[in-house]
Amino acid sequence: MEAQVDKKYDFDVVRWFTVAAIVYLVVGTLVGVYVASELAWPFLNFDLAELSFGRLRPLHTNAVIFAFGGCALMATAFYSVQRTCGVRLWSSAMGWFSFWGWNLIIVCAVITLPLGLTQGKEYAELEWWIDIMIAVVWLSFAFNFVMTVANRKTSHIYVSNWFFMGMMVMITYLHVVNSLAIPVSLAKSYSIFSGVQDAMIQWWWGHNAVGFYLTAGFLGIMYYFVPKQAGRPVFSYRLSVIHFWALMFGYVWLGAHHLQYTALPDWTGSLGAAVSLAMIIPSWGGAVNGMMTLSGAWDKLRTDYVLRFLIMSLAFYAMSTFEGPVMSSKTVNALSHYTDWTVGHVHSGALGWVAMVASGALYHLVMKLWNTEMYSAKLVNLHFWMATIGAVVYVTAMWVSGIMQGLMWRDYDEFGTLTYTFAESVAAMHPYYAMRAIGGLIYWAGAVVMLYNTVMTIRVAATRGVRTAAAAA
Ligand code: HEM
Ligand code: HEM
Repeated sequence: MEAQVDKKYDFDVVRWFTVAAIVYLVVGTLVGVYVASELAWPFLNFDLAELSFGRLRPLHTNAVIFAFGGCALMATAFYSVQRTCGVRLWSSAMGWFSFWGWNLIIVCAVITLPLGLTQGKEYAELEWWIDIMIAVVWLSFAFNFVMTVANRKTSHIYVSNWFFMGMMVMITYLHVVNSLAIPVSLAKSYSIFSGVQDAMIQWWWGHNAVGFYLTAGFLGIMYYFVPKQAGRPVFSYRLSVIHFWALMFGYVWLGAHHLQYTALPDWTGSLGAAVSLAMIIPSWGGAVNGMMTLSGAWDKLRTDYVLRFLIMSLAFYAMSTFEGPVMSSKTVNALSHYTDWTVGHVHSGALGWVAMVASGALYHLVMKLWNTEMYSAKLVNLHFWMATIGAVVYVTAMWVSGIMQGLMWRDYDEFGTLTYTFAESVAAMHPYYAMRAIGGLIYWAGAVVMLYNTVMTIRVAATRGVRTAAAAA
């Protein structure tokens, strides 16, 4: 059976991306727990520059976004494009090039970031020569995907493929423009933009890394894997098409909401806030579309633990896409900006939406690719609860600490003097930082359970394969 499927489709590289994604989830969240613990207990940097928060934080963000997120996206995109188009991957060699190239980039990040080699741009820290590698590998991934779609046996292009292709086009040009730099050595380069232009371009990239990579790409995952796991067609195909175009045209205008009250012209922030508010509509349309796919079959949630991941991720998606527009308004941003509220918002999207929808899809993939059930369904359920509880503890801690920070910073007495020193606000954060580290630890332990369950599933499937081969002989 497995051999027959492998003849029709090219799933080897998908298997490798799937396992790599799960390993990187464990590693990336472990670094997250470490940096969270450093904020609660600063002695953990052991006075070593390489272990300091400033160097490990970008290692965490790169590991979770690009190593885990990238491998999850490539696994799911290469799998679903073959299934929805009814053809093999256009080029197997190019698929392997994407796999090894992406992993080489991750190795380069792991070496350079702790050494302090950085361009200092958030989510675009890696030095110029690694940026070139990223562009080449990303384009090979995109080209292979588009050519597979072009060779399809079906008459139309299923909506998940639109979302993946939207991500590929937008991320290519955002990455290339934001990374334009003049190199002076292998270890140093200077952005070609300066001042407000630099800030504007950086956040045009920064927000769209969220909008097109962490959102559109993972919506591609949602539109394929939710209907598949639920065994039902997507609730409204028409709504998914509106969702797609509204997202593509809306997101590119939002970057300036990261730069309210700065040297940027005031109208850019107002435009960013206005379009952000409008984005609630397509975002909620998409979330409802995903959830309503289960309409009439909600009872499946009682027994299908993988489906629980997918549906819970949509609840978090709805929550963070309501919170984001609220935070983009100037009044709320005056309180939330620079505080942990932003970090809480980020992680309700990252832990609740991105990592949950990816985990559900990765479980689905493990079962399909090794043609088996998970080794332990109970462990999938355990992981689900650990991920949900870990995310809620993390996000709640950051909401409380963020709002408290904002209120302490702006509080003044009858003489117009600030009531609290900055150091006092830092000290007040300690309990919440400890709580966040505990929430993160629970989330990370859940990821370890997933890795264990996956390894056992593959081992059992492998021995069964050997037995089948022995029986045939
Ligand atoms: C165990 C789970 C995790 C823990 C404990 C954790 C912890 C942290 C910490 C402590 C920071 C630094 C916050 C600061 O600068 O004050 C951070 C930043 C960040 N993390 Fe995580 N993280 C986890 C999982 C993830 C995942 C799965 C993703 C993405 C899919 C993610 C994406 C990010 C991003 C984008 C930032 C930068 C936030 C900003 O600039 O506001 N994290 N994380
Ligand atoms: C309609 C949807 C959304 C809107 C309008 C929105 C808006 C915002 C706003 C206003 C900020 C704070 C900017 C600041 O004060 O610096 C922010 C930060 C952020 N959001 Fe969202 N958000 C949305 C959805 C999401 C989702 C689904 C994720 C998924 C992971 C996400 C990830 C982030 C990240 C990573 C940051 C931190 C950027 C940084 O400072 O490093 N957002 N968002």
